[in-house]
Amino acid sequence: MPGFFASVAPMILMGIETSCDDTAVGIVDAERRILANRVAAQTERHQPYGGVVPEIAARAHLDLIDELVRRALEEAKITFGDLTGIAATCGPGLIGGVMVGAMTGKAIAAVRGLPFIGVNHLEAHALTPRLTNDLAFPYLLLLLSGGHSQILLVKGVGSYQRLGGTIDDAVGECFDKGAKLLGLGYPGGPLIERAAATGDARAVILPRPMLGREGCDFSFSGLKTALRQIVEQNEKTPVFSANAAASLQAAITDILADRAGHALAMVQKDHPTALVVAGGVAANQAIRARLQNVAARFGLPFVAPPIALCTDNGAMVAWAGVERLKLGLTNKLDMAARPRWPLDTLA
Ligand code: KG4
Ligand code: ZN
Repeated sequence: MPGFFASVAPMILMGIETSCDDTAVGIVDAERRILANRVAAQTERHQPYGGVVPEIAARAHLDLIDELVRRALEEAKITFGDLTGIAATCGPGLIGGVMVGAMTGKAIAAVRGLPFIGVNHLEAHALTPRLTNDLAFPYLLLLLSGGHSQILLVKGVGSYQRLGGTIDDAVGECFDKGAKLLGLGYPGGPLIERAAATGDARAVILPRPMLGREGCDFSFSGLKTALRQIVEQNEKTPVFSANAAASLQAAITDILADRAGHALAMVQKDHPTALVVAGGVAANQAIRARLQNVAARFGLPFVAPPIALCTDNGAMVAWAGVERLKLGLTNKLDMAARPRWPLDTLA
């Protein structure tokens, strides 16, 4: 068998992520080693507007991406010649930014003659627990970010069953808009969590939309409206803001725990290996603790990737590239960038 004893070079992929307001480049190998994970947040550029401005994000990605690619290679102590392939997020996301990352990835692939993998951003979040924990399929995933809130059964690479999702705002959006109403700043999630630490979650009464309902959809816009009305009727003292932040976090946590419980009951027949949480909101410690309890009720492990791998990053895109390349799933360089790209259409 010629070549049987020859040493096989490890598969090393670069992943590029530009679908929202983080410019990110990661490098991982097929042995699940993260060789580099560089993120340049654009927070200051969007802060004056209290949210992500798509045009500003696209320009910022363009400014930052080349230098980030160079620094990721430096951190990994490799050159383009050591790469086995290039993965880049091709959607869903803010289209200007997605185009910057996808074009950068395609250009490197074209010049270096490397396979290109156009990654679905949601799939990259969904496969992260296989990078961090070597988790076996199937598992139940709560994807909780600023742009997405959904519950999926992850059955395999490209195979996702959507069990439920938000019928209005994403959960991260609820944190961000809540923080804006309370004058806490942007991005809201971490600021609400910090303010909540000194607040009383029983002091402000907020609704829990969809709680106890059949299925596992969520709704957050009623919660936001209720908070707005309460904010308008009260003076925004530090004590009030802390109490309102604690109450908002508690309401969101209750909703997520209820929906996760329903979802686990729905998929018990599929024998999931774990309850997994991913996306930026998965950084929230109160939410993590509650979901851990829900998983324990079903006798399942609870898996939450480290925070740097929960929020948008390049390593998760590179890893999705590894998973796909191992299966021979590559893309042509004329693959389009997509603003919308639901996960259950991937098969
Ligand atoms: O996944 P991500 O980095 O970007 C996408 O939206 O794709 O998620 C960002 C979202 C923001 O809405 C942010 O407020 C929220 O995650 N977030 C948090 C926390 N850290 C970030 N929400 C609650 N608690 C946190 N500690
Ligand atoms: Zn994301």
